Amino acid sequence: MKKSVLISNKINKFDKKIEVSSDKSISIRCVLMASQAIGDSKIYNLLESEDVISTISAIKSLGVKIVKQKKYYQIYGKGLNNFSAKNNLVINANNSGTLSRLILGILIRFEKNIIITGDQSLKKRDFQRVIKPLSYFGAKIISKNKKLPLKIKGTRFVKPIEFFEEKGSAQIKSSIMLAALNTPGVTKIKCIKSRDHTEKLFKYLKIPIDIKSNKKFDKIKVKGLSQYNSFNYKVPGDISSSAFFIVLTLLSKNSKIIIKNVNVNKTRTGIIQILNRMNARIKIKNKKIYKGEEIGDIFIKSAKNLKSIKCQKHFNSKAIDEFLLIFLVCAKSKGVSHFNDISELRHKESDRLKIAANLLKKIGIKVYEKKNSLKIYGNPNLKITKNIKISNFMKDHRVFMMSCIAALTLGGKWKIDDYESIKTSFPNFLIILKKLGAKINYEKKN
Ligand code: S3P
Repeated sequence: MKKSVLISNKINKFDKKIEVSSDKSISIRCVLMASQAIGDSKIYNLLESEDVISTISAIKSLGVKIVKQKKYYQIYGKGLNNFSAKNNLVINANNSGTLSRLILGILIRFEKNIIITGDQSLKKRDFQRVIKPLSYFGAKIISKNKKLPLKIKGTRFVKPIEFFEEKGSAQIKSSIMLAALNTPGVTKIKCIKSRDHTEKLFKYLKIPIDIKSNKKFDKIKVKGLSQYNSFNYKVPGDISSSAFFIVLTLLSKNSKIIIKNVNVNKTRTGIIQILNRMNARIKIKNKKIYKGEEIGDIFIKSAKNLKSIKCQKHFNSKAIDEFLLIFLVCAKSKGVSHFNDISELRHKESDRLKIAANLLKKIGIKVYEKKNSLKIYGNPNLKITKNIKISNFMKDHRVFMMSCIAALTLGGKWKIDDYESIKTSFPNFLIILKKLGAKINYEKKN
């Protein structure tokens, strides 16, 4: 049974403290790293969303025991490359780009054929970006049109590589780092900066890693084949999930919210920096460091006099999953906003550049969409009175959630399909919205 949500009232003012779901990137990395550690790891607050459940199933199918306890997941690691699986095992990553790309890195030395597949959305996404560097290590990877399904066969004769990662993609970088971990010798990666959770976990686990950074690039060296011990980890809240409530608050009148215990790693807080440049006054307080990651509470109030932005390129990777929401704020801001070099948005769970442009046009905003850029003509007086239907967006969870925020802040009568999509990253999204006072109805489809 499929469900759509119906929203035909703006949310009333609110003043609340909330917590959002745990960080998806860190949850997936914790499971992958614990599966290769020596001994039992305990992961508390693991995000229980479909992407993470797919990760747990994938790792279990490789012969690693994982048990859900009351407060944590216990993962019985057996060390590097100590998996067991039948030949031609099929791993279904479902919707998860992060799982499907990172797991290839850990299979680099595993000498069995493993088939990786995914759902309709994941099968449309580009895998050449990881096939290329991983093949240089010596693994054999076969796929039609560089997409899923693909077959990987690792080799014990892996050799370290030097690679330039020029898309600013943490998935590519992390996939290579995990392959480097399983390869004798030193692998060198020069990369455009992107989220650095894998680096931080490597450091915390005392895996030999050396990072030199300048303004543009990070140069990472990983020395492979050093076994590491199991660990305990408590996953903090996800800034990408917080982002929906940040924008809900900014665009609602007389409202305030505090989001507690969020990962505010500087490689992830692009949305806060961008919105503050647009006249928001979002603050991060009570900061502390946890196992190398920065965690804090985010304080947001309704915004007044939002202005447009010419978004600098260095923000692109730092806000990569939040652009749909940032575009929505631009629609309600004074002036013309510009975004350049953002074609990576076309390679997400859906073509988010196209979908955002169409959605903004639908609500009466003038936009210019080019292959690699977007220009948005903001209208601070934007009010919607008509019916809006949001459908056919590849069940992209972030499109669904952004549409709910638009409906609750701009008015109009909205019908938004594919309610189930929130299970990918933020299963309790609608529950939190309702606690804040949102009125949401459902329509079932067969
Ligand atoms: C992620 C990296 C980003 C992001 C994705 C999660 C990760 O993808 O969009 O949601 O956990 O490494 P890219 O690396 O493709 O930019």
